[in-house]
Amino acid sequence: MNAQPSSHVDAARLQRRHQALAAIGATAAGGVDRQALSAGDAQAMALLVQWGRERNFTAALDAVGNLFLRRPGSQPQQPAVLSGSHLDTQPGGGRFDGSYGVLAALEALEALEDAGLPCRRGIELVAWMNEEGSRFAPGMMGSAVLSGGRTLAETLAVADAAGVTVERALQQVKQALPPLDDRPFGTPVHAYVEAHIEQGPVLEQVGIPLGVVSGIQGKHTFRVEVRGEAAHAGTAPRRQRRDALLAATAMVQAMSAEFQDEADLTKFTVGRFTVFPNAPSVVPRQVSFSIDLRHPDSAVLRAASARVAAICAAARGPCEVQVERLVAADAVTFDAEIRARIHTAAERLGVTRLDLPSLAGHDAGLVSQVAPSGMIFIPCHLGITHHEQESAEMEHMVTGARVLADVLYGLAR
Ligand code: GLV
Ligand code: MN
Ligand code: MN
Repeated sequence: MNAQPSSHVDAARLQRRHQALAAIGATAAGGVDRQALSAGDAQAMALLVQWGRERNFTAALDAVGNLFLRRPGSQPQQPAVLSGSHLDTQPGGGRFDGSYGVLAALEALEALEDAGLPCRRGIELVAWMNEEGSRFAPGMMGSAVLSGGRTLAETLAVADAAGVTVERALQQVKQALPPLDDRPFGTPVHAYVEAHIEQGPVLEQVGIPLGVVSGIQGKHTFRVEVRGEAAHAGTAPRRQRRDALLAATAMVQAMSAEFQDEADLTKFTVGRFTVFPNAPSVVPRQVSFSIDLRHPDSAVLRAASARVAAICAAARGPCEVQVERLVAADAVTFDAEIRARIHTAAERLGVTRLDLPSLAGHDAGLVSQVAPSGMIFIPCHLGITHHEQESAEMEHMVTGARVLADVLYGLAR
């Protein structure tokens, strides 16, 4: 058998890097709070650039803040193979969601170096800007702009709760980074492979260390603004009130009841709910809330999504309501050849695996619009994720990185 980079994947190095990254934005409860384009995110990016420079990988940043580390190929005109994930986390996030895929890609690049295996194509590690969408909504901004789903201008103009725009936050991040090359949009991509924790319980339950991801369920997100009128909690007659909170909670209850199915396939979540003026003795004049709606079948999801505005309108009572859809991502099926390559690489390493869909969203879904794409999952303890207790076994992290290294080598050699 030809030499493969998997034999040079270094568990101790992966562990050290995982710990170093987890320390940036570490929370007291063992998680990570490193939201997009925060000081912690910039620090993580700078560390990644430093690790890349130690191996002579060139670092580049595109105009939306996606970070690339490139191991050059012998034929620079050939489109590069891409692999990575994201460094940003949810506010009370874990140490694996995103970070693992970035570190697995770095480990694959280093293994190729250590094995002395040149490739025809360059291989680029990518850390996507704002996958999580918590500080700046919606998420997956970096991959959306790169794949043409969103414009750079509209993305740079998005502001966080404090009014800081993506553009401003990105300027601050750049100040924390050494000077980097510019990476133009439209740079062709040969293929994209992302490693990630499963974020579900299946692999652990069946005792299989590797998932070959078949696709990603669809996801639609919304922002809803409910407007009523402020009034005195003691003096304003109940009959005359326009209480935005009562209207908003009626909308949430109506949607929760309507978007239910026996098989629990439709996922409906209101994760953010903001009340104005949020004072105990004032009738709420305004409520803003988010909706995250998902289903594996795009037709079912679109039908549910199309009902959101009408359900909200029917429950608005004396208030006004405005519904804005932020994301309408259909379900994705990953490239058959990439999936076959993951199976073949795992087979050669004697790694058992399971084909399974992703119920969580990933940048790979958007990248699949511009390049053949696929994903590798490793088990996630009890499926706990978007949570400070998120955990995965080092042994599985190493297995995923080994399979990834061989897949990337196969695509680039
Ligand atoms: C990604 O974090 C998602 O919300 O699925
Ligand atoms: Mn993720
Ligand atoms: Mn996530």
